[in-house]
Amino acid sequence: MNNLIKKIPLYQFARDSVFNFPYWVFCLVGHIPSHIMRNFIYRYVFRMKLGKGVKIYKHLDCYEPSKIVIGDGSIIGNDAFLDGRAGIYIGSNVNFSGWVKVFTRQHDMDDKNFKVVGGPVYIEDRANISSCSIILPDLRIGKGAVVMAGAIVTKSVDDYNIVGGIPAKFVRMRSKELEYDWTKLRAIPFH
Ligand SMILES: CC(C)(COP(=O)(O)OP(=O)(O)OC[C@H]1O[C@@H](n2cnc3c(N)ncnc32)[C@H](O)[C@@H]1OP(=O)(O)O)[C@@H](O)C(=O)NCCC(=O)NCCS
Repeated sequence: MNNLIKKIPLYQFARDSVFNFPYWVFCLVGHIPSHIMRNFIYRYVFRMKLGKGVKIYKHLDCYEPSKIVIGDGSIIGNDAFLDGRAGIYIGSNVNFSGWVKVFTRQHDMDDKNFKVVGGPVYIEDRANISSCSIILPDLRIGKGAVVMAGAIVTKSVDDYNIVGGIPAKFVRMRSKELEYDWTKLRAIPFH
């Protein structure tokens, strides 16, 4: 074990500190008790592409926010983690409940160099991602699809399918008659 721990050269430590400082600032922004201020900073400092009426609740954690697109009226619940490294594209009126994690990169466990693989995640209009679920890289959650609480999604989900469990499997169909539009919905204060 000791052989694995190498001393980090000072120049590398300094370089990593400079590169990672914005990430630390990003995490702090999630503690500002104002949606308007948080969205302003996410949009204009961190270059997230946010549509009209997007609500991002407290404590968002993110890699590469500039590669994240969130459509009109979508809601990102509290304590989400969005790994934007390979791109995350969220449609309109999508709902994330709390503690959802979306990953776009992972390691190839069989590669001798433990190479990084993955791909973008697409979450289509009016999909609902329930609390504490995890979405793995390189897949699409279809229009109006539902991920049940605590699920781990390892494969793409078809439109209006409800999936649950680990790994997430088809449970039933959702109604296709969905009309809600959250673009003008007010954010819950201090949340
Ligand atoms: C998506 C959800 C609303 C579906 O609930 P529902 O319509 O009552 O589910 P159903 O009654 O159709 O359940 C169908 C089956 O799935 C099972 N099931 C329900 N939730 C499940 C879950 N999270 N994981 C795995 N299976 C689940 C049910 O037990 C039922 O199994 P059975 O047919 O063997 O009895 C619910 O699963 C869920 O995830 N709720 C979200 C909770 C949450 O995040 N709240 C915060 C909101 S802001």
